[in-house]
Amino acid sequence: MKVGIDKLHFASSHLYVDMADLALARNEAPDKYLIGIGQSKMAVIPPSQDAVTLAANAAAPMLTAADIEAIDLLIVATESGVDNSKAAAIYVAKLLGLQRRVRTIEMKEACYAATAGVKLAQDHVSGHPDKKALVIGTDIARYGLHTPGEPTQGGGAVAMLISAAPQVLALADDSVLLSQDVMDFWRPLYHTTALVDGKYSSNIYIDYFQDVFKTYLAEQQKTLADFKALTFHLPYTKMGLKALRSVLPLATEAQQRALLAHFEAARHLNREVGNLYTGSLYLSLLSLLLTDPTLAADDLIGLFSYGSGAEGEFYTGRLQENYQRGLDSALPQRLARRRRVSVSEYEALFNAQLALTASDQTIALGDDPHRFVLTGQQQEQRQYLDRQH
Ligand code: COA
Repeated sequence: MKVGIDKLHFASSHLYVDMADLALARNEAPDKYLIGIGQSKMAVIPPSQDAVTLAANAAAPMLTAADIEAIDLLIVATESGVDNSKAAAIYVAKLLGLQRRVRTIEMKEACYAATAGVKLAQDHVSGHPDKKALVIGTDIARYGLHTPGEPTQGGGAVAMLISAAPQVLALADDSVLLSQDVMDFWRPLYHTTALVDGKYSSNIYIDYFQDVFKTYLAEQQKTLADFKALTFHLPYTKMGLKALRSVLPLATEAQQRALLAHFEAARHLNREVGNLYTGSLYLSLLSLLLTDPTLAADDLIGLFSYGSGAEGEFYTGRLQENYQRGLDSALPQRLARRRRVSVSEYEALFNAQLALTASDQTIALGDDPHRFVLTGQQQEQRQYLDRQH
């Protein structure tokens, strides 16, 4: 029986800052961000969106009534949680109108957790093929204004429906994992932005990829040439390119050119949005599937997931015949319709998040067009609005 990703959908902000504008404002050469980091635009998340609304906005458009009836597991992976106790998944389940007999949990391990969610969902559906699981990676990447990490911010959510007989990608049971205590990136409870040793985290990322990928090849008796494309967690798109380049010597020159061409498709949409933390790998998968015209049924796709702290996993899936039917096909057009904001508007929005105090607050919705929005806080409870009800 095949189990895997049946549908894949994305949500982010209607606002972005151009990376050349940001570079000039920070006295950097635009090419440092455009080429050196590999980002063209960065999603600017307004205060009316948080991890919960992004998750609901990602999932709602792809779910049919039959899907909602069949979902009995909802996993929301995030490192941008809105509560230290209550799972974001409970809010998301309510906004999506899921049935009451659903297991709702929030998972955390930096940018890796959505992969843990996918693998748990795969196991769950394998044991209960009549059921479906919804896995959502949702985050707002915040390093702070005027920090080295600033050009690697962004935000958004990727929702994945996991089912038997999936339309998009049938997942194999061939993961290789690595988990060790590393202090490369973390966010203590008293911080709203991440602490990171940027160069160190980039080196650990490559070390982890080398370790799990080469172990995978040895265990499965495969070569790099067996893969149509490799996809990566993309905190910034140059990071994935560095990881890919680190294994290219394993392939012939023609294979290297092909893998690099597929990588360009796999980073195309990430270049337009920035870092998503948990969702980044899966936006890259969506980018590959939406923008690479050379893919075909049964192609083997590799996925490298990395979360600082640190945990890495390499696993694979086979593309299915009608994979395009399960994709968020309008995504490139939606991204093209976003509004460009100035650096000063981006800075104002960055500083206008819901305050971490007990007081009642109201959030101005501005021109946020999304169905689900955060309207404020009343009596220490976050207030969410579904504008279709
Ligand atoms: N034209 C083209 N490239 C340029 C350039 C120019 N004018 N100026 C600099 N660059 C290149 C650099 O050579 C470098 O490329 P390389 O990494 O391939 O050598 C890249 O741009 C970045 O420059 P660097 O000086 O290293 O940037 P930085 O010190 O400001 O930090 C990060 C970059 C990624 C470390 C920083 O943004 C960060 O800490 N990000 C968050 C951490 C992260 O995402 N970690 C990933 C693992 S999860």
